[in-house]
Amino acid sequence: MTSTSTQRPRVLITRAVFPDVIARLSEHFDVESNQSDVNWTPAELVQRLQGKAGAFTTGSIAINAALLAQCPDLKICANMAVGYNNFDLDAMSAAGVLASNAPDVLTETTADFGFALMMAAARRVTESEHFLRAGQWKSWRYDMFAGAEIHGSTLGIIGMGRIGQGIARRGALGFGMQVVYHNRSRLDATTEADCKARYVSKEELLQTADHVVLVVPYSAASHHTIGAAELALMKTTATLTNIARGGIVDDAALAAALRDKRIAAAGLDVFEGEPNVHPDLLSVPNVVLTPHIASATMGTRRAMAMLAVDNLIGYLVHGKAVTPLNADRLVQQGTA
Ligand code: GLV
Repeated sequence: MTSTSTQRPRVLITRAVFPDVIARLSEHFDVESNQSDVNWTPAELVQRLQGKAGAFTTGSIAINAALLAQCPDLKICANMAVGYNNFDLDAMSAAGVLASNAPDVLTETTADFGFALMMAAARRVTESEHFLRAGQWKSWRYDMFAGAEIHGSTLGIIGMGRIGQGIARRGALGFGMQVVYHNRSRLDATTEADCKARYVSKEELLQTADHVVLVVPYSAASHHTIGAAELALMKTTATLTNIARGGIVDDAALAAALRDKRIAAAGLDVFEGEPNVHPDLLSVPNVVLTPHIASATMGTRRAMAMLAVDNLIGYLVHGKAVTPLNADRLVQQGTA
């Protein structure tokens, strides 16, 4: 009997996933998974990627030039995240490796969470809960945990992509807020009208908003979009919510502003150097802290995972990914 079996492409799943992700990928590929969720070192990741054509990645998996140089078989990295600052896109394009992300499926869920975090900060939800749990609630008091209004106030959104627009609609249509926004480029008139949002400069937004929400993607250009100077422009009664990425805010400067009551409160889902959190943020009471969970509903996380699967199958089996990031920039690798 001759052995003519064609080898199936091999795929690495870099973090623990829904079991049916493994099942679906296994219909097409030889799959190595990481269900015990081991935090591989960069060298271990390189070693696991040997012979793999595809990688299922999450935002904590860095794909850079040094790794790519050691993984010549890699053809695609499919991120189970809309953000992709864990990818060095230029290096991936130069190495002929396709990158894909998971947009759209998380938009409304993430906008819900941004709104929830903003409201929790403004209405002092976790601060008052800590007080209650500590047994400090002895009686009613006229100003106990009095917070800031949401309805009818001014919402300032920095980064007006799909999620920013979702937050704008919630604010304008659900809570009667005046919405102002700042973005690299101004939206078209129809989208502005849909969101009932007015384009302003970053300075005007910081000076006029009662609640500032950050939804801008991370890049060198957006690093520390909010630092001490920007915080100084904000109203002392204002809140700041970051559901974008760690590094968009200077966390040390924010902790100082919260401690000194230069702004009223903050809601943070993302942190510089996460999962580590700046110790000064842990010790100020007027901040709501959550561990990067804005897209975390089971339905949305499943949809994100399945979109990453669709990208791997689409590209490696059918030659076309669903949501590629650098398809038009891929440098074809020679076949010596
Ligand atoms: C989450 O942060 C994502 O980028 O999907």
